[in-house]
Amino acid sequence: MKRFNIKNKNILIAGGSGQIGKSIIDFFLKLNARIINLDIQDIKQQKINSNRNYLFYKIDFSKKEDIDLIFNNFIKKKRIDTLINLFHFKGNFRKLEPNNSFFESFDKYDFSNWNNTINVNLNGLFLICQKTLKIMMGQKKGNIINVSSTYGVVSPKKHIYGKSGINNPIAYSTTKAGIINFTRYLATHYAEYNIRANVISPGGVKNKMQSKEFVKNYKINTPLKRLANPWEYNEAFLYLASDASSYMTGSNLIIDGGWTAW
Ligand SMILES: NC(=O)c1ccc[n+]([C@@H]2O[C@H](COP(=O)([O-])OP(=O)(O)OC[C@H]3O[C@@H](n4cnc5c(N)ncnc54)[C@H](O)[C@@H]3O)[C@@H](O)[C@H]2O)c1
Repeated sequence: MKRFNIKNKNILIAGGSGQIGKSIIDFFLKLNARIINLDIQDIKQQKINSNRNYLFYKIDFSKKEDIDLIFNNFIKKKRIDTLINLFHFKGNFRKLEPNNSFFESFDKYDFSNWNNTINVNLNGLFLICQKTLKIMMGQKKGNIINVSSTYGVVSPKKHIYGKSGINNPIAYSTTKAGIINFTRYLATHYAEYNIRANVISPGGVKNKMQSKEFVKNYKINTPLKRLANPWEYNEAFLYLASDASSYMTGSNLIIDGGWTAW
């Protein structure tokens, strides 16, 4: 168990205020890690906000100047053991909005939605990884965990969404696929600095926005017959964030109830 120890490790979490991020932060704080959450909005949970090992900086990953400012003023001088990138563009920064043009089919897809998604999911990722990697190169040790999706591995199943007004658009799927090879590039080109880089590809997490039709269709397409709970990824993040995974780099850990096995 010693190799799973993350006590006092500095873990930078980008986009940690969402469904999966909140769960990881809560779990990692209980294991006495030091968390720096970079997000456009903070988590509103007293037990997290008041934890002395929790720091939050407001940032918009679509803005290079925001990333420069936060790094130059707050992050640059710190040791960063692990970086976890969770942020993604979904048409707005808060809840999913059914019928938002972000969910349109490719033939009607607005170029601005495509650009906004690339700008956050890939350009933002490029910038934060580049900044953090330089810190890690100086430390001669580091660990990057990027987050893709089953839809970065296979195409979204368009029939499961029915009339919900929520779909999985080309911009999401394309950028999520890009994240996987971006990570392999970092893994292979920076292994000599003792920096590891891996991907976690989660399957769908249940939330209140999902229609009955979607949940039913999701079950039919999943060997384990259900969506995930947000906390069911915690242990995989712990494995990758700790020395327990010291021989793992360039991998894509798919945790999807079997979705991509069919
Ligand atoms: N939840 C799922 O069903 C699911 C399934 C597969 C993959 N994933 C992936 O897992 C990751 C986390 O998912 P989640 O459900 O926790 O997402 P979420 O939407 O609940 O949270 C994302 C977080 O990123 C932040 N964010 C978005 N754009 C930002 C920006 N420009 N600048 C700063 N912060 C920004 C949001 O404020 C939010 O706190 C995502 O990359 C997602 O693609 C999620």
